[in-house]
Amino acid sequence: MTRVFSGIQPTGELHLGNYLGAIRNWAKMQHETDALFCVVDLHAVTVPKTPGEVGESTLRLSQLLMAAGLDPEVCTLFVQSHVREHTECAWLMECSVSFGELSRMTQFKDKSDQHKSFISAGLFTYPALQAADILLYDTEEVPVGDDQRQHVEITRDIAERFNSRYGETFVLPKAVVPKAAARVMDMQHPDKKMSKSLDSPKGTVGLLDEPKQIAKKIKSAVTDNDGEVRFDVAEKPGVSNLLSILGAATDRDPEALADEYEQYGQLKVDTADAVVALLEPFQERFRELEADPGETARLLKIGADKARETASTTVARAKAAIGFLAD
Ligand code: TYM
Repeated sequence: MTRVFSGIQPTGELHLGNYLGAIRNWAKMQHETDALFCVVDLHAVTVPKTPGEVGESTLRLSQLLMAAGLDPEVCTLFVQSHVREHTECAWLMECSVSFGELSRMTQFKDKSDQHKSFISAGLFTYPALQAADILLYDTEEVPVGDDQRQHVEITRDIAERFNSRYGETFVLPKAVVPKAAARVMDMQHPDKKMSKSLDSPKGTVGLLDEPKQIAKKIKSAVTDNDGEVRFDVAEKPGVSNLLSILGAATDRDPEALADEYEQYGQLKVDTADAVVALLEPFQERFRELEADPGETARLLKIGADKARETASTTVARAKAAIGFLAD
């Protein structure tokens, strides 16, 4: 079975982009592949947090993922900091990537612009930790939204470099990006991707927003003035975003959907209805899980124990390949 790995940061509230671009596909893929999904709490502390914040967000995100259909009995769901091999392997990755390569990462450029007062060294070496996440599990496919392609590519480069220096050690992974909704845009700024950190409450559809709020945000989406419903991301980003969202929510092709609409109003109403219908059962399930944090912790421990089995073997293999003196 294909080995699949993906991760998500416990920062801010989950939004429709995370759900349609990544999590929903994870829930589908877990049944057809050997899949691991990780709440990457070590990545979250690349920007300063208040004491305790990261733990709370990790618990909540784990429950959100389970509510979205990730079943700890089917896939391996775990927390990054519970498996120490991630930090150990990250060092080996840091020594296999160059300053120049890390300087070209767009996520670093965006995030360092947002956190100008303190740019941590961890924010800069972030992709090395991400490469460790992926390579520790002999991952073949990494299901992600479009914005993470660059990080999967640098992971391949790191693996290739390591393998050519020290001999075949790591499997080369590839990104798997969905056809619709790989890049969900902000409802108010359709030229920017929907994001947890972009300060745009009206443009970001939170997965736990009230149905009424969700409908309102979608119905107030910024479009354009030419009045033609057409899928054209460059010329008509707002309308194309609605078509993509509706397409992803209803498993239809956004271009084919465009032919069925004459007016923006109806497109917005149908998109809002489809998203609300998709999120209502998810929200209900989350409320149930939220009430039992002990059970969530139990399930996450099972996941970490399972992940560690593979991770420890891979780190040992990588260290042996480099030829450290055995302890
Ligand atoms: P993160 O936490 O920012 O996002 C989690 C997933 O959601 C996708 N996503 C989107 N998809 C479509 N439209 C959007 N507007 C949108 N916003 C976010 C992301 O592409 C991602 O798939 N660096 C990663 C976390 C990570 C990781 C990994 C991922 C750490 N280690 C190993 C894969 C494999 C991140 O910050 O994702």
